[in-house]
Amino acid sequence: MTPSVLVTRRLPEAVEDRLCRLFRTVLTPNDEPPGRTGLEAAMREHDALVSTITDRIDAELIAISGRRVRIIANFGAGTDHIDVDAARKAGIVVTNTPDALTEATAELTILLMLMAGRRAGEGERILRAGAWKGWGPTHMMGQGLSGRALGLVGFGRIARSTAAKARGLGMTVRYFSRSRAPAEVEDQLQATPAESLEDLAAVADIVSLHVPGGPATYHLVDRQLLSMMKPTAILVNTARGSVVDEAALAEALAEGSIAAAGLDVYEREPEIEPALLSLPNAVLLPHLGSATIEARTAMGMQAVDNLEDHFAGREPRNRVA
Ligand code: 8YV
Repeated sequence: MTPSVLVTRRLPEAVEDRLCRLFRTVLTPNDEPPGRTGLEAAMREHDALVSTITDRIDAELIAISGRRVRIIANFGAGTDHIDVDAARKAGIVVTNTPDALTEATAELTILLMLMAGRRAGEGERILRAGAWKGWGPTHMMGQGLSGRALGLVGFGRIARSTAAKARGLGMTVRYFSRSRAPAEVEDQLQATPAESLEDLAAVADIVSLHVPGGPATYHLVDRQLLSMMKPTAILVNTARGSVVDEAALAEALAEGSIAAAGLDVYEREPEIEPALLSLPNAVLLPHLGSATIEARTAMGMQAVDNLEDHFAGREPRNRVA
């Protein structure tokens, strides 16, 4: 029997074509997430789900009576929207797509550093509003990146790729991570480990977040940590919104206790903390980290590879549960 797969959102065409060739695939042509009722039905009717961050797969859904789903191939690296422990206990395989989006997300991290440092969003808004009075020697001066210290929180694939790009821009690199990176990685990236998150926050000109979401990292950047950052510092978040206390960040930006922030992810997507929306020194992007045609296609192909592995009786290459 050919396995039956439900894909909860629209995916790049090449990915959907491959899924349709390999499996009895049900696509979502209108791109409308299935919601709770749709997910409940999908759990009972299909062998596999291709899920995304917009599907909340909690313990209750996993424990649903009459469940048929055996594998959830997540389209995306982060799996904090899936109760991975509950899935493991229930014998459901969960996979992710960790490599495919590294470059795209690291590029977006650099983009946010530049936009926040050079006040790009602010300048564009002024120009479009017809409020630009012409060039001026002290008009909209920002901060360059060259010679500045990048502080990476977490030191996985995306952080390391960001470090390499930042080195190319003349920045120095420090990182804080639960485990120390191999000496050759530190040498190659000229990255120095920090003793603690607080130490990193105190010395970094740009603090960039690269840790997973979930309870272990919830509000890691809180009021206290923000107060330890330099008044000229920039916070960049391309990881998960839950890592930052958004209300505290909005206060820090309004008071000028830090200089700017570049955000791609939010605590309650697609809702944005209202206080952030009115701050000129907050650059706000709509979760575009992996949004390149190359990355999204590679992510989809990686999810399909995992499904193929599973249904061929092999260990899926990117198994997380
Ligand atoms: C994805 C992401 O687009 O992979 C991740 O963890 O945050 C994004 O880049 C999204 O999660 C898709 O499910």
